[in-house]
Amino acid sequence: MQWILRLSWFCSAAMVLIVLSPSLQSFPPAEAIKSSSSSSSSKSQLNLFKKSPIFHNADVCTTTRGVCDSSVVHVALTLDVDYLRGSIAAVHSILQHATCPQSVFFHFIVSDTSLQTLVKSTFPKLNFKVYYFDPEKVKYLISSSVRHALEQPLNYARNYLAEILDPCVKRVIYLDSDLVVVDDISKLWEIRLNEKTIGAPEYCHANFTKYFTTSFWGNKKLSGTFSGRVRGPCYFNTGVMVMDLVKWRRFGYTRRIEKWMEIQKTSRIYELGSLPPFLLVFAGHVAPIEHRWNQHGLGGDNVVGSCRDLHPGPVSLLHWSGSGKPWLRLDSRKPCPLDALWAPYDLYKHSE
Ligand SMILES: *[C@@H]1O[C@H](CO)[C@@H](O)[C@H](O)[C@H]1NC(C)=O
Repeated sequence: MQWILRLSWFCSAAMVLIVLSPSLQSFPPAEAIKSSSSSSSSKSQLNLFKKSPIFHNADVCTTTRGVCDSSVVHVALTLDVDYLRGSIAAVHSILQHATCPQSVFFHFIVSDTSLQTLVKSTFPKLNFKVYYFDPEKVKYLISSSVRHALEQPLNYARNYLAEILDPCVKRVIYLDSDLVVVDDISKLWEIRLNEKTIGAPEYCHANFTKYFTTSFWGNKKLSGTFSGRVRGPCYFNTGVMVMDLVKWRRFGYTRRIEKWMEIQKTSRIYELGSLPPFLLVFAGHVAPIEHRWNQHGLGGDNVVGSCRDLHPGPVSLLHWSGSGKPWLRLDSRKPCPLDALWAPYDLYKHSE
């Protein structure tokens, strides 16, 4: 079974390459092969997931009608071939723990529109919409980072939610694909942002200095951006954010983030991917959210095989940030103890 998939994968990748060949001069072949393979392999992935059970609203829920209904909880995630299993598990976990699962509306950002069929067949009753994100939109802005996975264009889709999503969407919860929610998502939805544009758990004990280079801190014109911020600036993780899209659009935050990415292209001011521009724009201006909503770092460092423990306190969301991913570790039969908490949400059909 596996070899048939591989073979068809190679054939279709080769076909796409042939079709695309006139445009190949503009980018390195390795990259071209990578992007074309993702669009063809997803078709063979159609049957790789079990159908999710159907989750119904409790009696207390109001019936919601469509994406612009004001009682809807909006959740945005990216879907790509590498993290697909994670995204599907995240959706599954949200539905399972929500009191009103049918009132959650999912916004999936993809660079491969064929994934829409996969979502539909895995979650037949899901309220969702798929938006195409053109990788070319950010490619020229991405500089190489310490981890290759951080350079994927879809990592930057969160910068553009305010323009990608339906204009009637006023607030959205953005979630990474390597997490599961183990509480009612409506509790996170109802958090007050006050006058702030985004909310996220903050970590003020983390060493903020290390997220930027010495040349950044040495340049007062650049690092001066943090002076005068009354709260913080504190580190926050951009994998879980509540975003006020009305304010975001009004104050043009997408452009502000892009400006920092442009500076990074010419003078290296940080080493990570999509996170530092967010810190530059928002650190110190974030509405704090309880830490239970982002128990992060569970991915640990796969290279040394280190397993992380939970931070003290209650848990509403488990986040395998870091280079290790639970589905890879479970498949290799070398899981970390906490990976067992991810496994129940996995809908991947293992070959029998
Ligand atoms: C924070 O990180 C910077 C840069 O890595 C380092 O020079 C500094 O000593 C650290 N500060 C603390 C309090 O650990």
